[in-house]
Amino acid sequence: MYISDDIRYIGVNDHKIDLFEGQYIVPRGMAYNSYVILDDKVAVMDSVGESFADEWLSNLEKELGGRKPDYLIIQHMEPDHSRNIVEFAKAYPEAILIGNAKTFAMVDQFFEEMPGNTRQVVKSGDSLPLGKHTLSFLFAPMVHWPEVMFTYDLTDRVLFSADAFGKFGANDVEDPEGWACEAARYYIGIVGKYGVQVQNVLKKAAELKIDTICPLHGPVLKGDLSEYLDLYGKWSAYEPDKCGVAIAYTSVYGHTAEAAISLKDQLEEAGVKVEIFDLARDDMAEAVEAAFRYDRLVLATTTYNADIFPFMRTFLTHLTERGFKNRRVAVIENGSWAPTAKKVILGILESCKGLQVSENCVTVKSALHADSREALKNLAAEFSK
Ligand code: FEO
Repeated sequence: MYISDDIRYIGVNDHKIDLFEGQYIVPRGMAYNSYVILDDKVAVMDSVGESFADEWLSNLEKELGGRKPDYLIIQHMEPDHSRNIVEFAKAYPEAILIGNAKTFAMVDQFFEEMPGNTRQVVKSGDSLPLGKHTLSFLFAPMVHWPEVMFTYDLTDRVLFSADAFGKFGANDVEDPEGWACEAARYYIGIVGKYGVQVQNVLKKAAELKIDTICPLHGPVLKGDLSEYLDLYGKWSAYEPDKCGVAIAYTSVYGHTAEAAISLKDQLEEAGVKVEIFDLARDDMAEAVEAAFRYDRLVLATTTYNADIFPFMRTFLTHLTERGFKNRRVAVIENGSWAPTAKKVILGILESCKGLQVSENCVTVKSALHADSREALKNLAAEFSK
């Protein structure tokens, strides 16, 4: 695939994967992107995931037109990109492997029998001239592993952004939701904990003139890049990018679900955008994404073993470990003899900065009654504002 006169796409699409990174469903598959820059010197950008060595090396060979690569630039060592470094090194023993000190420590951890290709260790800010093109390396630690580095091509103004700006989904399957939805689920799920580090690298990237972003997953981004940069700015600052309410609930016999759905209906009647998730049945990562993207969150759950229902506890762990903050939050608790869910939830969320707990929280005793219906009405009125 053509990226520019000298840059070609040589990545692959994975339609057999069941769970990306062992936990994320990817109904539209996954792309592992790799690129080659054809200049006086030839540089390959990253390898691809397991099972794709032949396809990737064949894609590369077609673009090389009989030449040999001079460099393999290793921006990220997670195995969805690094798995075929050994195969590359065997196929091209003269090629130099480019990475940083942390990269090569991981190369030796992952690969017991690594061919003896020359290694070139770079520092952030170092340049690599290829001829017409000059590459500059920009370290991006914890976006999303410590060894990650971006690479900027000064000639074509291309930013090779490692996992940043990537999304779920193979590149040969159309995504009717556009870029943002699956890019958000990817970012918040996988990189979300490291907002500070993302902000730091975005500041450095803002000094560059960028025409094209080449991530390691998802489509190559060209043209007006402001939407992608703005959303990354908001997500990494933990700011909502959508006005509305995310409702996450668990329910054992349907009564808590009834309360959550009743609140959803009332909010929608008031013109509020709502997304609702049954945490036991819906995609947990989609619910986590919604919690971070909307400005209001409602948590509805049953008291269970004097605690909260397990799926809700898992959900809250996803929020707290990703630094959830600066949102309005409400709780609907249910309990037949000793409702404690609200206390437990607010205790778990104590570590989250800038949360504004609603004046109206709802206690359901087994099933909805006049008092809890009234409390729901009050919560709907409060969260409609
Ligand atoms: Fe796409 Fe962090 O690996």
